Amino acid sequence: MSGGSRVIVVVVCLAVVAAAAARPAPIAGGTSSSRAAAAAANGTCQSRAAPFGYACEEHTVTTEDGYILSLQRIPSGRGETTATAAGGKVPVLLQHGLMMDGVTWLMNSPDESLGYILADNGYDVWIANTRGTVYSRRHISLASTDSAYWNWSWDELASNDLPAGGKDGYSQAGQQKMHYVGHSLGTLIALAALSEQQQEVVGMLRSAGLLSPIAFLGNLSSPLARAAADVFLAEALYWLGLSEFDPTEESVHSLVTDICKQPGIDCYNLMSAFTGDNCCLDNSSVQVFLAHEPQATATKNMIHLAQMIRGGRLAKYDYGDTGGNMAHYGQATPPAYDVAAIPSGFPLFLSSGGRDSLSDAQDVRRLLRALAQSPRDGDELTAQFVADYAHADFVMARDAGERVYAPLMAFFKLHEK
Ligand SMILES: *[C@@H]1O[C@H](CO)[C@@H](O)[C@H](O)[C@H]1NC(C)=O
Ligand SMILES: *[C@@H]1O[C@H](CO)[C@@H](O)[C@H](O)[C@H]1NC(C)=O
Ligand SMILES: *[C@@H]1O[C@H](CO)[C@@H](O)[C@H](O)[C@H]1NC(C)=O
Ligand SMILES: *[C@@H]1O[C@H](CO)[C@@H](O)[C@H](O)[C@H]1NC(C)=O
Repeated sequence: MSGGSRVIVVVVCLAVVAAAAARPAPIAGGTSSSRAAAAAANGTCQSRAAPFGYACEEHTVTTEDGYILSLQRIPSGRGETTATAAGGKVPVLLQHGLMMDGVTWLMNSPDESLGYILADNGYDVWIANTRGTVYSRRHISLASTDSAYWNWSWDELASNDLPAGGKDGYSQAGQQKMHYVGHSLGTLIALAALSEQQQEVVGMLRSAGLLSPIAFLGNLSSPLARAAADVFLAEALYWLGLSEFDPTEESVHSLVTDICKQPGIDCYNLMSAFTGDNCCLDNSSVQVFLAHEPQATATKNMIHLAQMIRGGRLAKYDYGDTGGNMAHYGQATPPAYDVAAIPSGFPLFLSSGGRDSLSDAQDVRRLLRALAQSPRDGDELTAQFVADYAHADFVMARDAGERVYAPLMAFFKLHEK
């Protein structure tokens, strides 16, 4: 295999398996844009909440930089009358990870998935959908086919998407502070926003649950992700030439199909090689995953993550040269996010897995040490370790309810007084 095609193979593997679930080739479901059309008719409320008897509202918010995002609200549990719904309840904002969307929280049965479990436990549930995903592809002036639409990384998800979604839930829930739950990239978004001490974010959140935390990536053990990172920046512009990184796009799709057909290549194992060996994926959640994911993201976002893997720093997007960084940040290197600056009274619950090769145990310990640099009371920083969980288990395992979500809700209760 030539160097060039090996680069493509590696990056394509990253694109597909980054979606963090067992996806055999070929990819079903059409491109992101064709699914966007279908989604306009059938939103997440209709496909994942209504069939199980949950009330559900579709909302939209516009970010400061013009992205029109969808949010779903599940204001009540199964069988609850609307009279008791929402009013006075504590809201929770759920933020999915990379190449996923809000369906992340509703992939298993109502007894297994966090979105339903929170609603059935008396929470007012708000589900965010990042810009560029199937329900959040509109903008006040740009089309998603414009390359300018994709000119962002997770810096903007922290500075724009999180405040926009949070503000909507916060105000509609009667200015009740929200708990936050992030998975994977959704944890990084919150850590970044809280580190910057964005008042609007700190002021509307009560606590944050961080599942499969991502902050430092220097010890990331996934061989595929590391290989992709090692070649990504140098090669991305060369071969991608694409500002939208769509794992379902036709040329990517057919490459993957070919790779997966090669003797000795098992795409289930590729997934394990990327996310770690998930112990407890529920079969039905894999089917739901196949119907809804993976989602597109910005190539710039992928480059930013690759920078973190290579450099081990938790910092803003690196424009690659002194001039670019001077122009954007007024300094030669991108400014670091300092998690120790997260206000010391802000409660954090971290849950990480022993087999997670994206959220590596050493990197999580580094995050915990950094957080502990500012004084925090014992119950304000809680770290849970689930030895046999890998990256996707935190949202797709059949037993996540008892092993992760129950302790998480106990933590929430503690911080509602
Ligand atoms: C929309 O949902 C209905 C039932 O909820 C289903 O029959 C139909 O196939 C869905 N359409 C699309 C385009 O997904
Ligand atoms: C992308 O956004 C940055 C600012 O965040 C800006 O400096 C740059 O010119 C933009 N690039 C394109 C191609 O729009
Ligand atoms: C990996 O983890 C070890 C132990 O925490 C640390 O000393 C080292 O700096 C880390 N490497 C990177 C590249 O982050
Ligand atoms: C999952 O579903 C597949 C196909 O329906 C089946 O062969 C397999 O046994 C199922 N696995 C489990 C653990 O239920």
